[in-house]
Amino acid sequence: MKGVVLAGGTGSRLFPLTKITNKHLLPIYDRPMIYYPIQTLVGAGITEILLVTGGNNAGDFLRLLGNGRDFGLRHLNYTYQEGEGGIAAALALAEDFADGEPICVILGDNILQKGIRPAVEKYGTKARGGMILLKEVPDPERFGVPVLEGERIVKIEEKPKAPRSRYAVIGVYMYDARVFEIISMLKPSGRGELEITDVNNQYLAWGELDHDFVDGWWTDAGAIESLYRATCLIAQERAEGR
Ligand code: DAU
Repeated sequence: MKGVVLAGGTGSRLFPLTKITNKHLLPIYDRPMIYYPIQTLVGAGITEILLVTGGNNAGDFLRLLGNGRDFGLRHLNYTYQEGEGGIAAALALAEDFADGEPICVILGDNILQKGIRPAVEKYGTKARGGMILLKEVPDPERFGVPVLEGERIVKIEEKPKAPRSRYAVIGVYMYDARVFEIISMLKPSGRGELEITDVNNQYLAWGELDHDFVDGWWTDAGAIESLYRATCLIAQERAEGR
């Protein structure tokens, strides 16, 4: 399976920290944010990786990451997102890279304590349809939230005011090549973006969306509170020698 890290967008929720740099270059404790999602993919055995970024500081990713030697990679692929048309718009840029193969997508501001290898292996056994990962959180209204009937997801709602479960759909997604057909048919949402939640709802409508649960802690780092939280969680990991 190939991997895609999405690191475009403006990082407006972190302004002024993101006035002169890209959100994913900000530090989470002892490393730049972008290191964590790349390491999550590499830790799951994914070594063919595309980084999608944008904005004025895209060149800094190349200077920081090069060919990915810090991660034991021989090569890293890069592409550039014009504007900030949403997560699904950024993912559309990975179509040539994917070249018909299944992909594991991770958002550049998602930090996980433990790896995603079990989920990647589970998806890999059939490598068809989509797969999402869920984590119970205290503030689901900030995320994509699954509506559950028993163990079955019937729908995913993006940032619902009244969440219908306590789970967040985290920013790790596995898809087959049909994801690009789905994205090509999407219409921008109320916030003017192509939403990854709409992609997942299409797989659900086809009855082809599996889910798994995240082991260990998970956080995003896209707002001041969550950036601080991510830093504290990683500091704790380092203090415990991980
Ligand atoms: O963190 C998980 C959540 O991420 C999910 O639960 C939501 O369903 C999903 O929509 C997303 O929510 P956010 O509103 O937090 O996404 P945000 O706009 O912060 O973008 C997350 C990452 O996606 C960002 O770090 C880089 C990438 N991105 C985003 C946009 C809007 C791009 O590469 N290009 C973009 O245009």
